[in-house]
Amino acid sequence: MTLKKAGNIFVDADAYTELASWHEQAARLRREDPVHLVEAEGFDPFYALTRHADVFEVERRSDTFLNTQASVLLPSAVYEEQRASGLELKTLVHMDAPEHLQYRGLTNDWFKPAALRRSLEGRVEELARSFVDRMAGMGGECDFARDVALLYPLHVIMSTLGVPEEDEPRMLRLTQELFGSEDPEFGGGKDRNQVMMDAMTDFYAYFTELTEQRRAEPRDDIASVLANGAVDGQPLGELQRLSYYTIVATAGHDTTSNALAGGVEALLRNPDQFAALKNDPSLLDNAVEEILRWTTPVRHFLRYSTRDQQVGDTTVREGERVLLSYLSANRDEDVFEDSLRFDIHRADADRHLAFGTGVHFCLGAHLARMELKYFLLELLPRLDRMELVGPVEYTASSFVGGVKRMPVRYTFN
Ligand code: HEM
Repeated sequence: MTLKKAGNIFVDADAYTELASWHEQAARLRREDPVHLVEAEGFDPFYALTRHADVFEVERRSDTFLNTQASVLLPSAVYEEQRASGLELKTLVHMDAPEHLQYRGLTNDWFKPAALRRSLEGRVEELARSFVDRMAGMGGECDFARDVALLYPLHVIMSTLGVPEEDEPRMLRLTQELFGSEDPEFGGGKDRNQVMMDAMTDFYAYFTELTEQRRAEPRDDIASVLANGAVDGQPLGELQRLSYYTIVATAGHDTTSNALAGGVEALLRNPDQFAALKNDPSLLDNAVEEILRWTTPVRHFLRYSTRDQQVGDTTVREGERVLLSYLSANRDEDVFEDSLRFDIHRADADRHLAFGTGVHFCLGAHLARMELKYFLLELLPRLDRMELVGPVEYTASSFVGGVKRMPVRYTFN
């Protein structure tokens, strides 16, 4: 395969369904052309950064590498249609300084470890238990990705926002359509752009209503913070507020689902590590970091250069853009020894970039870790055995993805 073809792994959503071959190509790019120019049909050109050091460095230069409105890789036509429709989201990942800090400041305290422990930890524990109970009630077989991993983080995020349980199916469908929409299974065969537009419109309607409720009767949830929040002494603009709901609801869901399903998959494929973790829960914190490294559910973000500058040996010109391949950076053999091996004992697992780094570092990182930890803490002691019983399938998505189907069989103690 030519290097040019290897560069297609970033634009071809299907490439992400064959992860072993995806990682082979990424490893080759890390070795031979770590700042690789991708010129693919339908996409504006970009440099794909595959090394940990380059991804890290560009994230740290947030004054000269901006997120902009177009921080996720989409075909140029999709961006044009979004712009024309006026339905462009403006979330934290679409903002830069000084606006970004102001908007991030609104909810930052909410997501700090101490605050989360107070407000959400008990609920997360309760939800973890109820989902393990649910597994116990399924007769020893389920699709772990679809029946468990997809739903548990959704409940957590809905509790964070204050969305009632009866609205959960609607939210599930919408987040799938917004974030997994390159995968035909989640788009009902409709035109991809149309699926995203419909999902956004539905989201807007839902959260507009929620805002009104929380203005009338504020509670102790994110919805109330956003409904009544102010930036520069002014209430949030409608688009900014709705975008904020959207990013919390979506970023907090699929990402964690993919980490959980992919983490359990990795444990099932490495029974010795599964057993070690079951016997010694003190390994859990590090296991969670390794799961995050291993799964890297957010595959990339983009950054736009505001001046001519060096990245590795390449000069990236003003106005050009780079793709931060977290998935590749987290397999970089210069940082992680034997990087293609899942290893819960890995001493430096927490050097992963699954949450990014710098000013945009994942707002929900502590919450995500808490969710993964409590689920495993609840599941492992109750589990006698668990095995894969059918093919594991992965999402066709170049942005957020991971295990989509994972049939398992298990017995509880
Ligand atoms: C395993 C789960 C998760 C992964 C892998 C993940 C990954 C990421 C990544 C890579 C970024 C971009 C960081 C950067 O540009 O440097 C990000 C940003 C963000 N994440 Fe997460 N995330 C996860 C869970 C969550 C959860 C549970 C929430 C909860 C609400 C959340 C909310 C956000 C928000 C709001 C941002 C934007 C932050 C900003 O731009 O300032 N994420 N996440």
